[in-house]
Amino acid sequence: SKPSVYVTRQINQEALDLLKQHCEVSSWTGPGPVPKTELLKNIENKHALLCMLTDRVDAEVLNKAGANLKVVATMSVGYDHLDTAEIRKRNIKIGYTPDALTDATAELAVGLLLTTSRRLLEAAEEARTGGWQAWSPFWMCGRGLKGSTVGIVGFGRIGQQIARILSTFNPSRILYYNRSERAKEAREIGAERVTFDELLARSDFVSVSAALTPETTRMFDRAAFGKMKKTAVFVNTSRGGLVDQEALVEALRNGTIWGAGLDVTTPEPLPLDHPLFGLKNCVVLPHIGSAAIETRNEMGIVTARNIIAALNGDAMPFELVV
Ligand code: GLV
Ligand code: GLV
Repeated sequence: SKPSVYVTRQINQEALDLLKQHCEVSSWTGPGPVPKTELLKNIENKHALLCMLTDRVDAEVLNKAGANLKVVATMSVGYDHLDTAEIRKRNIKIGYTPDALTDATAELAVGLLLTTSRRLLEAAEEARTGGWQAWSPFWMCGRGLKGSTVGIVGFGRIGQQIARILSTFNPSRILYYNRSERAKEAREIGAERVTFDELLARSDFVSVSAALTPETTRMFDRAAFGKMKKTAVFVNTSRGGLVDQEALVEALRNGTIWGAGLDVTTPEPLPLDHPLFGLKNCVVLPHIGSAAIETRNEMGIVTARNIIAALNGDAMPFELVV
């Protein structure tokens, strides 16, 4: 008989059809993420799990799955929702989707940067509500990219693509901070590797695209915001956990930094009464970095292929090795 896979959300038909050629598929079809109780009930004896970043895969889930489970494939590039140590311990393979979403996420990051730096939401609101009296020389002015210093924190696929797109706006320099040197890509893009503190001190725009790990957790704390320019724009499209959000609220209120664009927060969704929603110099988006139709379809297909390859004992298109 075919191996069995549990799918935690409704995914694209093409990815589902691909899975069904090789597996017995059962899915959560309710609205929103699968409740933990349902996941625990349905994972029992399955050979594969196709999950989302909204599903926490921990020892409880893995124990419930039992010895059949061969692969956990997430339809995301981020993997902080997976207890990778517990998964590894059981010799279960991990699949993820790093390539498919690089361009869409970098495009969103640049869009969010411009939305924040040029005050697009604030300005559109003024136009819609009568605040627009007449064209005025210094009204609704933001901050331009030309001649600026751009700082990229996390110079992986996405960070590099953000830098490539931003380079066309003619900043005077692009700095990056990354655990390892990315000499070849940096040379091609024209980016300079610096320390974290130097990046904070010199950048007019700080864009974050680093994975959430114990090392990066809350790396943007009060001290970090304090080292940034008062005119700096901060953009985060990675994970909310990299930021001490209370420190960010304080920095935006006090003018320690100029503005922030966030596609990710803690928690998600952000409660409606959260202070970040009350700040005009903050743009909050609902975690839509990879939300382009073709991209999400591709992510579904890559996730299905990761599962099929792992079940067949073949090399997975994108295996996460941590
Ligand atoms: C999105 O945040 C992802 O990790 O794919
Ligand atoms: C992170 O994995 C990235 O691709 O930037």
